Amino acid sequence: MCGIVGYAGRERCVEVLMDGLEHLEYRGYDSAGLALQREGRIEQIREVGELRNLARTIAARNGDLSRVQTGVGHTRWATHGRPSEENAHPHLGGDGSVAVVHNGIIENFAELREELEERGVAFSSETDTEVMAHLIAERVQAGETLRVALAGVLQRLEGSFAVAAVSVEEPGTIVAARHQSPLVVGLGEGENFLASAVQALLKETHEFLVVENGEIVEITDSSVEVFDAAGDPVERESFEVDWDAEAVELGGYEDYMLKEIHEQPAALRATLLGRLDAEGAVDLSEIGLDLSEIERVVIVGCGTAYHAGLLGKHAIERFARIPVEVAIASEYRYADPIGDENTLVVAISQSGETTDTLAAIQAAREFGGKVLAVTNTQGSLITREADAVLLTKAGPEICVASTKAFTAQVAVLDLLALALAGVRGTVAEGELRGIGRDLRLAPEKVEETLGLVGDRVEEAVELFDDARCSLFLGRGTACPVAMEGALKLKEISYLPSEGYPAGEMKHGPIALVDEYCPVVAIIGDGLVREKTLSNAEETVARGANVVALAREGDRAARRMARLVLPVPEAPEILAPFVCSVPLQLLAYHVAKERGLDVDKPRNLAKSVTVE
Ligand code: M6R
Repeated sequence: MCGIVGYAGRERCVEVLMDGLEHLEYRGYDSAGLALQREGRIEQIREVGELRNLARTIAARNGDLSRVQTGVGHTRWATHGRPSEENAHPHLGGDGSVAVVHNGIIENFAELREELEERGVAFSSETDTEVMAHLIAERVQAGETLRVALAGVLQRLEGSFAVAAVSVEEPGTIVAARHQSPLVVGLGEGENFLASAVQALLKETHEFLVVENGEIVEITDSSVEVFDAAGDPVERESFEVDWDAEAVELGGYEDYMLKEIHEQPAALRATLLGRLDAEGAVDLSEIGLDLSEIERVVIVGCGTAYHAGLLGKHAIERFARIPVEVAIASEYRYADPIGDENTLVVAISQSGETTDTLAAIQAAREFGGKVLAVTNTQGSLITREADAVLLTKAGPEICVASTKAFTAQVAVLDLLALALAGVRGTVAEGELRGIGRDLRLAPEKVEETLGLVGDRVEEAVELFDDARCSLFLGRGTACPVAMEGALKLKEISYLPSEGYPAGEMKHGPIALVDEYCPVVAIIGDGLVREKTLSNAEETVARGANVVALAREGDRAARRMARLVLPVPEAPEILAPFVCSVPLQLLAYHVAKERGLDVDKPRNLAKSVTVE
């Protein structure tokens, strides 16, 4: 949470910082600010609320900032101190001689603040970050270089952070460090960059350096130097990021969410490419793990990633007959987890930064489990913590509500299930290939779904006009899909929504049902179809307006429901894909109807880097 960006180079600093912040705004949008090195001073410009407020202030300066060559910027998700101008970053120390931007939490800030106050330092904010600015400034005033000062201060900090600082004493230089929060360096010609995530800098560069925990990096227009905690230089290879700059633009769509929903066919195609051939054979040799030794699987993730994990459990248990536990990452680490070296721990995280998921990995390490990361973000923290990585190739996901990353995660878990089944011989080879060929149809079927749902979803939105809550029901794989549908709706429309196993509904949630509680029922096929229909009927009998997700020609669904959102005929393995898409669109249109910002829902941020 929070996004930081830094630039050292030419007279385009403000433009680069603002563009970088715009692409990091998904990380937090409570306030934003810049600290700019000007002749012999640091200018701090901050505004409460979304970045556009800061942009307006900067525009009003009529080009007065166009000569600035070095600076840092920040977009905030408030942890300590309410969103206000005083609490907005950057924070200044030493009477404005040092400025700091920070992502993370300084857990021992209260004692550090007390200590500084005893020395007569006056604070101007309620944030944990300000202690860093003062501590660094004290050391710089005592004659230390900015880098040495930062290194000294880091020794005193507890918590997680990515921090970047500038000082009036060192024009043209930025120093930065991180511990458990992300930070990358972008490499340019005659200019260099810093950011919390690569997507902030894709317009500028595709070549990046990772900064590891505890390291300090110093950048100027012509140099990038990495140092370890002892101050010794570290050699670091750069890496290329193959995302296009256009991938982080709206490209004609009204919102990122709508764009990302429509990008799902392409995301699935890219994710399956090279891993599933035309005959339906799966090749996951890229992970370099011996899957034949796996006796148990644990899947950890948060939010949407957890729901993808629930679908992964269905696939792995069904095809590979390996017991799978799915755990909410924030609970897992405190649950004294059980496992051994034959346990495969699959950690799912779109951002690759989620602190709870990283902590769950560490817990798995303690019992010797093998960790496979499923992430969308090359070079992210999780890729460096895991034994092996399977990238979802969904491209950058900007909207806080996850859509294309979710279906790509499900595709990767299906591939894993088929690979495990192949190694264990739990499904006859011919049948396994048939399922693989079915999975290859995912992009086309999702495309077909997008076409089929069309305007129908907007009719469904009317049923939510007077809703006070809503219930999403499904059985089997439709249950995690229902949970994900409810999460999508509640996070962007603020309508309380529950995703529940359809059969379990009458053990409690049915008490919610009346005409103001629309029910979304995923009818599905096979064994559970009739039972789900009956469960949906039970809600109709209690006054609910039911939206059914069903095949177009499903007469029983049509009879029972107020409205059918049609899904195409599809092989069983594709049911979660074709059912998820209409629910994403439903959430999107309900939120739009309520006039809400779907990309930046209140209180949320895209990557959750606090516990
Ligand atoms: O980046 P991650 O996949 O680790 O993020 C996990 C959750 O924070 C995320 O899925 C969250 O639930 C989304 N806002 C859901 O749309």
